[in-house]
Amino acid sequence: MYSAVLIVHSLLRWVVLALAVLVTVRAFLGVRGGKPFEERDAKLGGAFVGAVHTQVLLGLALHLALSPITSAAMANMGVAMRDKALRFWAVEHLSMGILVAVLVTVARVRAKRGADDLAKHRRALVGYGTVLLIILAMIPWPFRKVIGRSVLPTPLVSAH
Ligand code: HEM
Repeated sequence: MYSAVLIVHSLLRWVVLALAVLVTVRAFLGVRGGKPFEERDAKLGGAFVGAVHTQVLLGLALHLALSPITSAAMANMGVAMRDKALRFWAVEHLSMGILVAVLVTVARVRAKRGADDLAKHRRALVGYGTVLLIILAMIPWPFRKVIGRSVLPTPLVSAH
């Protein structure tokens, strides 16, 4: 179960990232080109929110029940706070993920309620752009010291 959820959580990061880039770029082009805020913009925003919420639910399952790393951290938070890797998973990744879930929901509602098309694109650009930056910061990219992981799911990579 742990491996299955970690694999899905790891792969879903690419869907989340792709949607984050897509909605941010569309909002940017909308602002710059004075384009209408189309049905497709609203739908892509909805898909992005759905993907982030699913990712956060899987993350919560890992955090609270499945991951031996966060279980170890929560068993002794004092020690975990002094360990860079444990602190990243138990505190930083968790809090950035929850922040992202809240911000993306607010961004979508605010974009839909903009007074006109330009205001909608502007709000989408600021909201989704901020969420994209936080997501980039919370992913354990391979080049990151101590917490870095492969771009493919850990269980698949370590099985070879
Ligand atoms: C947009 C939100 C999120 C993204 C993009 C994301 C991305 C990732 C990635 C790429 C990994 C590494 C997977 C691997 O090793 O193959 C990971 C691991 C993990 N994530 Fe997330 N995550 C998100 C939200 C969350 C949230 C909100 C939580 C907690 C509530 C969470 C908990 C975890 C845990 C505990 C692990 C490590 C599990 C382990 O190795 O035992 N994630 N996440």
